Amino acid sequence: PETGCLSIIVLGASGDLAKKKTFPALFNLYRQGFLQSNEVHIFGYARTKISDDELRNRIRGYLINDKSAPGQSEQVSEFLQLIKYVSGSYDTEEGFQLLDKEISAHESSKNSLEGSSRRLFYFALPPSVYPSVSRMIKKCCMNRSDLGGWTRIVVEKPFGKDLDSSEKLSAQIGELFEEPQIYRIDHYLGKELVQNLLVLRFANRMFLPLWNRDNIDNVQIVFREDFGTEGRGGYFDEYGIIRDIIQNHLLQVLCLVAMEKPVSLKPEHIRDEKVKVCSSISTPNQREEVVLGQYDGYRDDPTVPDHSNTPTFATAVLRIHNERWEGVPFILKAGKALNSRKAEIRVQFKDVPGDIFKCKKQGRNEFVIRLQPSEAMYMKLTVKQPGLEMSTAQSELDLSYRQRYQGVTIPEAYERLILDTIRGDQQHFVRRDELKAAWEIFTPLLHRIDDGEMKPLPYNPGSRGPAEADELLSKVGYVQTHGYIWIPPTL
Ligand code: BG6
Repeated sequence: PETGCLSIIVLGASGDLAKKKTFPALFNLYRQGFLQSNEVHIFGYARTKISDDELRNRIRGYLINDKSAPGQSEQVSEFLQLIKYVSGSYDTEEGFQLLDKEISAHESSKNSLEGSSRRLFYFALPPSVYPSVSRMIKKCCMNRSDLGGWTRIVVEKPFGKDLDSSEKLSAQIGELFEEPQIYRIDHYLGKELVQNLLVLRFANRMFLPLWNRDNIDNVQIVFREDFGTEGRGGYFDEYGIIRDIIQNHLLQVLCLVAMEKPVSLKPEHIRDEKVKVCSSISTPNQREEVVLGQYDGYRDDPTVPDHSNTPTFATAVLRIHNERWEGVPFILKAGKALNSRKAEIRVQFKDVPGDIFKCKKQGRNEFVIRLQPSEAMYMKLTVKQPGLEMSTAQSELDLSYRQRYQGVTIPEAYERLILDTIRGDQQHFVRRDELKAAWEIFTPLLHRIDDGEMKPLPYNPGSRGPAEADELLSKVGYVQTHGYIWIPPTL
């Protein structure tokens, strides 16, 4: 691995994302020895005029995740000492010149390891300032050429609101930075079971002959949350569930489930395959295969307009027009304020031809990958009910992580992805053409919703969402197994 000075600059340091995700992820990397105190320095940058200590105090409470762990509070203090705060605006040079001075001082300080100027700019910012901040960095803060190293930027969705606005943003940033310098984070790509998808699919002979239209009836990718948009109504209302979850997180997962085998594990080979499969997806049939919902009470939020047409729930059926998947519905479903919190992939197989058991209750095989909570993979099977009678029952082959990998800590998505940005591995980041292909799928539908031509159906908070969504599922072929439920094993 590279060594030498590493400066991590968190822009928007006093905001929510920085406090809740970025700094805790950096702390966890520090704690595990991935960030060495003689190499790394962290800079917070934002408009608010506060001191180093005030910033440290603001984030301290978010860092301790295990109060009982020995030595953790000392580690927190050591980590906080690595953070320096610089205040300035996002569109004028003064602040960024000052920032550059501070970074350069760190790079030439005799306490630091010499020989490198690695600068990682993390945008924990609203996208409206991405273009100006990118310009300022390019103008004032690039790595020192006499020391080598690199400059990278890390950006997060929303990348625009539709195809045109996203392309415009990509072009603005693309004029300033090369693609290998741009890390577009989709934190779902950092989840353990999402990262496992390629291994699962391409390192197991068992799946190879089954993973296609001949055997798979339908695929569901589901995201549920059991809370509403509390506190984020203003942001959310402008975007809605499709832009917040489906167009990015769920579509990224779909790509990994459906793509062809990459030539190698090189990031470009993987991303080439994701773009290909994404480009084979048609825009969903809005009349027949989309159900939108909005939970009752959503508009009571004072930051949400009284007549908001924004969906907080959506089910959309995507069709992949290629040799492997033609005819197989990929059902993407996401909702806020539902009856549970979970994210999973369900691959449902076709019925067995010539059923000699004549058992009406016999369910379909289903392979479920539970992304969260209680990470697991399980395969629903029909088995003989143990006992003297010859009858069938539903059961499962279960790989539950908590049980199988006792004592193993699963890293947080952001932690892993930030480490990738430092190491220069873009495999789990979204490439510009991939982003474009994703917007192409959803833009026509989003425009119809924005224009008020499609209206969300009301649903009760704490329910499964609109009943029409379940009807759509069965219409496209999903068969629910009655009388069977997988229970995550407890230790
Ligand atoms: C974010 C969305 O990207 O993902 C939020 O903006 C959502 O609305 C969150 O709550 C869910 O992430 P996770 O990792 O908790 O499933």
